[in-house]
Amino acid sequence: MKDSQLHVLLLGGGGGREHAMVLAIKDSPKLERLSVTPGNAGTTEYNIDLDHENHQAVVEFCTSEGVDLVIVGPESPLVAGIADALSEAGIACFGPTKAAAQLEGSKTFARSFAEKYDIAGPVCESFTDVDNALAWLETLDKPVVVKADGLASGKGVIVPESRVETERAIYDFLADKTMGQAGERILIEERLVGEELSLFGIADGKTIVPLVTAQDHKRVGEGNTGLNTGGMGAFAPVPGIEADVEAELVEKFLTPVVEGMAAEGTPYIGVVYAGIMLTADGPRLIEYNCRFGDPEAQVILPLIESDVLELLCAAVAGKLDDVKVQVKQDTTAAVVVVAAQGYPVAPRKNIPIPDYSLVENSHVVLAGVRAEDDELRSSGGRVLGVVGHGDDLAAALANAYPVVDQLVSSDGLFARSDIGWRHAPRDAYAKAGVSLEAGAEVNKRIAESVKSTHDERVVSGLGSFGGVFDISSLSKYERPLLVASTDGVGTKTILAEKLDRWEGCGADIVNHGINDVLVQGAEPLFFLDTVAAAHLEPEVVGRIVDGMAEACRENDCVLLGGETAEMPGVLTAGSVDIAGTMVGAVDQSKLLPREGIRPGHVLIGMASSGLHTNGYSLARRVFQDMDLNDQLPGGAEGVSVGDALLATHRSYLKPLSAVLEANLVDGLAHITGGGIIDNLPRILPDGCGAAVDPLTWERPVLFSYLVSRGGLGMREAHQILNMGIGMVLVVAPEKQEEVQAALDEPSWLIGQVIAGSGVNLA
Ligand code: AMP
Ligand code: GLY
Repeated sequence: MKDSQLHVLLLGGGGGREHAMVLAIKDSPKLERLSVTPGNAGTTEYNIDLDHENHQAVVEFCTSEGVDLVIVGPESPLVAGIADALSEAGIACFGPTKAAAQLEGSKTFARSFAEKYDIAGPVCESFTDVDNALAWLETLDKPVVVKADGLASGKGVIVPESRVETERAIYDFLADKTMGQAGERILIEERLVGEELSLFGIADGKTIVPLVTAQDHKRVGEGNTGLNTGGMGAFAPVPGIEADVEAELVEKFLTPVVEGMAAEGTPYIGVVYAGIMLTADGPRLIEYNCRFGDPEAQVILPLIESDVLELLCAAVAGKLDDVKVQVKQDTTAAVVVVAAQGYPVAPRKNIPIPDYSLVENSHVVLAGVRAEDDELRSSGGRVLGVVGHGDDLAAALANAYPVVDQLVSSDGLFARSDIGWRHAPRDAYAKAGVSLEAGAEVNKRIAESVKSTHDERVVSGLGSFGGVFDISSLSKYERPLLVASTDGVGTKTILAEKLDRWEGCGADIVNHGINDVLVQGAEPLFFLDTVAAAHLEPEVVGRIVDGMAEACRENDCVLLGGETAEMPGVLTAGSVDIAGTMVGAVDQSKLLPREGIRPGHVLIGMASSGLHTNGYSLARRVFQDMDLNDQLPGGAEGVSVGDALLATHRSYLKPLSAVLEANLVDGLAHITGGGIIDNLPRILPDGCGAAVDPLTWERPVLFSYLVSRGGLGMREAHQILNMGIGMVLVVAPEKQEEVQAALDEPSWLIGQVIAGSGVNLA
């Protein structure tokens, strides 16, 4: 290949990656002519009319037009063997041969290769037969990921939430062939947990030079929720990955690719893109790709100071050992993808691209955009990428989002507002750190609420280092015992945030604490809370604390103290964590569970008011495509999905006070995380189990819906959800009637204590 005045053909793609590649090479002094096929509206001046899938036609164009170098954008032409066709015709190509591109083209190939060359990955196995797959699953007993072996444009990976979903994915791919040929073979892998990172290198067959690390955002929804996409935004480099860690990742995940491929007799020339999960046990390979990532290319390429075309030429010529890639120091690039409504399932087409103005250190990369009569319109799911640069991630995002905001204000386009959220919550750039005023504001806002719970037992509360509580009232007990319990509201707050309904979450945590001490027979005395958010919004914290205060007043306990913590970078923008500790007291003579629980004791169930604080990950998934304001399917008139899901966790203190006072109950179980299956055995003596018949109580429609839509087995359902029973009373059989009468609300005889262990569902 000659050294300058090159005619370069960029082939195979028309997305943001290809526009970014054009921007990266178009001003290279080595370039004389650039042709692009198919390209998009961003590459119009270079686009040529050529059937890029027809190898013969491509070779003929290259020969007749004197193309010196072909650069391949996406994976499919490589897996189809375009590099082989070009090399047979003596035309230089940047991109691996068909054999080497198997690294992306077959996930099974990639895993066997990784195993052979000691590249750490998840436990995995490949299958073509449903029964064998199911049998192996049985032996693994861990959460898994199910993948189609072949190329499936990002749709071939299922991350199932339950065993039923896992089995469905296996049947879908192997029996129903939903992915066609690509899914005739599947891979089942252990599910890796951690932060994802992409690592890119350029290989010349013998040597690989690393570029920069990047992080993509694959899910379509805020906070990494919803369906997988090609990528909704990315940034590079990844903060916190120091040079030594990066070098280690290169050593573990990039170097073995060139060395291994050379050893196999299929030298690798082109981009090696390793998807890596940083797990608690160390970095693990998720997958290899044989091309630049999209949108990662849009942030990586602008960070390369060296001449990118020269770099690609060196790779093709096998001369990378001479090359040192210069990367811009102290600069971060971030890209936010602007997509068409309906993406990734059925993106709207033909959306007019609105006018926008750039801010300093920003530029726009076109993806699914075509030009029609001098007007730009959308032609794909991912429409544009807005790239911002800055000294750090927060600054880069601060330069991208003002442009994104202009674009998404137009009908038909959307973007994630939380790109970079793990490292720099979006509103962090406005405040850059923790705001002291917000803390003072919060204290002012909550003072009244907190004080409204106080009575003569509080010696000092708000503003003191520790709350001081007078326990002289406990002198009524012969031998007072303190009972303390800590818990949190969990991911229910995600829904509260979506619907802007916060008071309930405050009551949730107080009532949760009350029930937890109540099951040991204790009356609640005082509560201490924690509210943590990426950024404190005094009004939100205020409303949460209002809810806590009201629940405290209703149950005669005091809100003695608390903490509001502002934690940008730890929590995601908009998310709130609510937790707290309840302290109660009981006389030793009334401590529960009592001795004497034995087979034959009956189990009385009291209704829950909803999910209480458990099962929200499942519920969010089941309802993800539904508007929270929609009517709950099968529910009472006027009750929305949001109402049902956010129903406040009730307190059982008042309804139970008469039966506790009269010593009628031998044990109480609060049905929280783990359901009746895990919570009931906690209060049964050794040698005792329980038989519970789920048909004995009225199951609220919300639970039936979650069970059927979530594909839950009966036992699984009773372990994830309370299924309509929030409290179980263990009562001597002769006292059953008296207890049910004293409860003053509907209750059900749901089963009995039996000899054995655990819970049998009848
Ligand atoms: P892939 O098409 O292999 O990039 O997979 C798409 C996404 O699925 C990845 O970015 C991960 O988020 C997820 N994924 C793939 N494999 C695994 C795994 N073994 N464990 C956990 N998540 C995975
Ligand atoms: N952004 C992910 C990919 O290009 O595969």
